[in-house]
Amino acid sequence: MVAVALVGLGDIGLGAHLPALLRSPDVRLVAVADPVAAHREAVTPLVGDGVTVGASLDDALAAAPDGVVLATPPWATPELAIAALRAGRFVLAEKPVATSVAAASVYTGLTAAERARLQIGLTYRHDPAIGRLKTWIDDGVLGGPLLVRAHIYDERRDAADPAHLARMRRTLEHGMPVVHEGAHVFDWLAHLLGPGGLVVDDAWALRTDTDLPAPNLTGARLHHPAGHRVLAEFGWLTDALPRCELTFLGPRGLATLDGVTFALRLATAAGEETVEFPGERVPRDFDLQLARFAALVRGEVAAPDPDLAAGLAALALAEQVATLAMDGVTT
Ligand SMILES: NC(=O)c1ccc[n+]([C@@H]2O[C@H](COP(=O)([O-])OP(=O)(O)OC[C@H]3O[C@@H](n4cnc5c(N)ncnc54)[C@H](O)[C@@H]3O)[C@@H](O)[C@H]2O)c1
Repeated sequence: MVAVALVGLGDIGLGAHLPALLRSPDVRLVAVADPVAAHREAVTPLVGDGVTVGASLDDALAAAPDGVVLATPPWATPELAIAALRAGRFVLAEKPVATSVAAASVYTGLTAAERARLQIGLTYRHDPAIGRLKTWIDDGVLGGPLLVRAHIYDERRDAADPAHLARMRRTLEHGMPVVHEGAHVFDWLAHLLGPGGLVVDDAWALRTDTDLPAPNLTGARLHHPAGHRVLAEFGWLTDALPRCELTFLGPRGLATLDGVTFALRLATAAGEETVEFPGERVPRDFDLQLARFAALVRGEVAAPDPDLAAGLAALALAEQVATLAMDGVTT
């Protein structure tokens, strides 16, 4: 079994990475770490006696893990990832890989061998629904070119959950929703539409509450060299949210991906079908991601997937959207 440490015991660390680590037949959890005492206290009863509970990456490294999972905010992740890689460990680092392309420039100092040990937590790339969609697109089931509409609405404002609002405000201080959610969505689109790269045509942003640190709604129009058009919207922190879904419309069919469950619907002249994969999306994909990471650590796969290049490409596109969108924002 691969020895793994979990660093960052916040929302996604505690809610998704820790359960996946504890469920995994491939992994033995050896350490958890977080500078916030309350977060360490919440985790202590959930992990076994032999697991080191520390305050820092150094504490976690002292437990001699083969791999480190970083469930840390993007303003902390680059420094931690580089330190763990330089200490000879494999790293699974949460997306986005940094809060900006400038902040991500620190990764350029990594050697090829260090990069080859870094997998990016673009978790939902591993979902079988993304694989099925890619097959439909590549096999011409939808025809082409495609009109893609990505409506990514998440993180509803809940007056009864001030901790959630505080966390999302803190995250907004480091970039609009497109920077954080775009990491996933632009990675899926690069994977699904193929190489060549999306180009941003225009973008907009809207702040629905003047006291928010950044606009909470953003959108963009993009095109792909193969002729596809993409309309993407990202939104957080309104009391109600539109449906979260992606649609892929071509001359021969319409594929709809439910953004919450990842259930797929395909409509063509031949009829309609629904495709649902077993289990719930979040545990399913965190399990698949961790199995892929364990295989990398064991040397069963040659390269990380998704790798740093995929994380950087998604970040760069998200930043282009954010920059262009801010040009038109006056408040
Ligand atoms: N892959 C996914 O599906 C998914 C889902 C949600 C969030 N995320 C990403 O995960 C990351 C964390 O998000 P979150 O919502 O859990 O945030 P969070 O603020 O709830 O948790 C982050 C944790 O990291 C800890 N931390 C901060 N600096 C640290 C350091 N130097 N060393 C160790 N721990 C440190 C904090 O104390 C906190 O407990 C973000 O980048 C977010 O975009 C990914």
